[in-house]
Amino acid sequence: MKAHIALLAGDGIGPEVTAEAVRCLEVIARQHGHDFQFESALVGAIAIDTTGAPLPDPTLDLVKRSDAILFGAIGTPKYADPTLKVRPEQGLLKLRQELGLYANLRPVTCFDALVDVSPLKAELLDGVDILVIRELTGGIYFGEKTRTETTATDLCSYSVTEVARIVRLGATLARARRGKLTSVDKANVLETSRLWRSVTQQIMKDEFPDVALEHMYIDAAAMHLLRRPSDFDVVITENMFGDILTDEASMLPGSLGLCPSASLGSGTLGLYEPIHGSAPDIAGRGIANPYATILSAAMLLRHSLGLEAEARQVEAAVNRAIADGVRTADLKPSAAAASTREAGDAVVARL
Ligand code: IPM
Ligand code: MN
Repeated sequence: MKAHIALLAGDGIGPEVTAEAVRCLEVIARQHGHDFQFESALVGAIAIDTTGAPLPDPTLDLVKRSDAILFGAIGTPKYADPTLKVRPEQGLLKLRQELGLYANLRPVTCFDALVDVSPLKAELLDGVDILVIRELTGGIYFGEKTRTETTATDLCSYSVTEVARIVRLGATLARARRGKLTSVDKANVLETSRLWRSVTQQIMKDEFPDVALEHMYIDAAAMHLLRRPSDFDVVITENMFGDILTDEASMLPGSLGLCPSASLGSGTLGLYEPIHGSAPDIAGRGIANPYATILSAAMLLRHSLGLEAEARQVEAAVNRAIADGVRTADLKPSAAAASTREAGDAVVARL
């Protein structure tokens, strides 16, 4: 198959980790007779420095004509001040909004060979396989904001349509997994959560009676995620809760460097990125962990290109590299840490 892939490497370690994912995709293309064309564009701090905007028009044009987007990371210390008017994060938020990428899939799986990396006890990690679906284009992130000298507000709003499409996606994916859906909200306090809960209840009752549904408050979910993580299958939640919960969940495998993501809309166009950030402290040193980005590339093969077998091949190669002890610095290596390149090489060799 032919595919046009937009490459938005961004800032910090973004270019280093996406380079390894591109190498893996190129190997897959060669092996299976696919034709993947990569086209790069600017986003984030580097885009602000070069053009003045975090998401320049040529980048938006490119992604709109692409089949999929491979994204690295955004942000540099220069833009760390959150009161700046123009910020790298705006590039990513605008991409999600402009492309209607409303569902953010964040799988959290533990690797047997890495149980020592997690801050949690090994016995808690047995059988952990969670898929968090974070609503990505609504809620408090995108509501009206006001500010005076003495007060500030951020509006959180959700519509039935915005909730319903997340519920249907979550339930459909749960059906193909262990058949359990946990909907996380704060319905004891928030009106948006009460809407979320009632829409979820109705759709599950009418359309997915075979999928087990459980509601959980966000505070309790944050606790249970650490206490009994293997009880979770598919989790659906709103934008901000999902942002927080998935950073917490990354400590189950033990490193943000192991957690991929896919941001999807109603078509096949998707944005694929590691959930870690630009890690400016280690940028340019060639030591960042590329596994999360390579696993994101596997999700790209699966969700945007429909290449399930190839996606599994990439995931299996990463699994084997990890099982064989190839560890970057974040994975507590006992001997010398693998560089970004060496970890990429290890995956390529196992493809
Ligand atoms: C994420 C990030 C973003 C978010 C930031 C960079 C805007 O934390 O993708 O989780 O909050 O969504
Ligand atoms: Mn986040």
